[in-house]
Amino acid sequence: MIAEYVRLYKARSWMKKNLPFLYSWHAYVGYELDLFEIFKSPKTIEEVAASHSLETEILERWVEVGVSIKYLKKVSRNKFKTSRSFMLPDSKRDPKSVGILLKEMMELHIPALLTYPSIMKTDERQTFDHKQHGATVAETSAMLEQLAYPKLVQILKKNSIHTVVDVGCGHGGYMQKLSRSFPDLTLTGVEVNKDVAEEAANRCSELKNISIDCMDIEEWSPENKADLIMMNNLLHYLSPEKRPKVISRLSSSLSANGMITIITPIRKPKHGKQFSSVFNSFFTAFDNLYALPTKRELDALAKQSGMRLQSLKPIIREGGWYFAILVNHAGKKAD
Ligand SMILES: C[S@@+](CC[C@H](N)C(=O)[O-])C[C@H]1O[C@@H](n2cnc3c(N)ncnc32)[C@H](O)[C@@H]1O
Repeated sequence: MIAEYVRLYKARSWMKKNLPFLYSWHAYVGYELDLFEIFKSPKTIEEVAASHSLETEILERWVEVGVSIKYLKKVSRNKFKTSRSFMLPDSKRDPKSVGILLKEMMELHIPALLTYPSIMKTDERQTFDHKQHGATVAETSAMLEQLAYPKLVQILKKNSIHTVVDVGCGHGGYMQKLSRSFPDLTLTGVEVNKDVAEEAANRCSELKNISIDCMDIEEWSPENKADLIMMNNLLHYLSPEKRPKVISRLSSSLSANGMITIITPIRKPKHGKQFSSVFNSFFTAFDNLYALPTKRELDALAKQSGMRLQSLKPIIREGGWYFAILVNHAGKKAD
């Protein structure tokens, strides 16, 4: 009898623990199909289904959940409208939208984490599809720019920096910001994914001091020495065996007082252990993405290429994300 109550208690607790998933799922579907935008003015389920070629019954289920979690409200007997919830992801067409983050969580993180029972037994990991997901991850990483950019500005102001290289530049957001604030800089982005590099070139086309090289960093060599090399959210694309080689090559492309900045979540951080550990679990589910570095590994990476890990500071404490500065041994103070 008691055992049955305990079972019931546990079942109810798990159901409740899982409730936040409902919000993410609902918001993700709404973002993907732009349903929050469509329901901005009151509409019936039937008219939305007909005008957007959607399955009425499936749309009705989504609307019912929306009403239950107050993302939608019923405004008359059969009309529904999007609520004014602050948390709703804006439309895909709105550059302020955070929907891309939901897309990454639902289409990439959750499916990858669900392979754990099988990959733990077989070690048959999936291969991360750069073509399919490259643009999504480039966009979500760019959300950190807001927090990391002021740190870069400090470095630029305190050091004599003329040439900057952004390795794994994604859509080139950091370079666009730097180009606008420091128009005399020469900026080069290196990006291996063709589609992502093309989008970066597109977005940077007005800024004449930026060039994009569509190349693998392992094959890239600069025309001139760089004063600052950025590696933002890139290390987990390089196997731990490749990292020392890449950092050494980059350090030999630096000017005498040059430095490398690295933005990355780290393993076993002082802050943000939950997020960092699950992020790391996600990367490890793929055979072409790799575990995050620890502070000790960053230290060793700096030393083996004749550099020094000058500082390692959190940018998002709860996320375990850090900003590292590597300087030449003889280098002057970066920040
Ligand atoms: C997660 S995104 C980060 C983008 C940007 N740096 C940021 O932090 O917002 C990492 C980017 O590095 C690129 N990348 C991965 N491996 C690379 C390599 N070996 N050489 C050059 N780019 C690479 C990926 O295609 C991807 O666009």
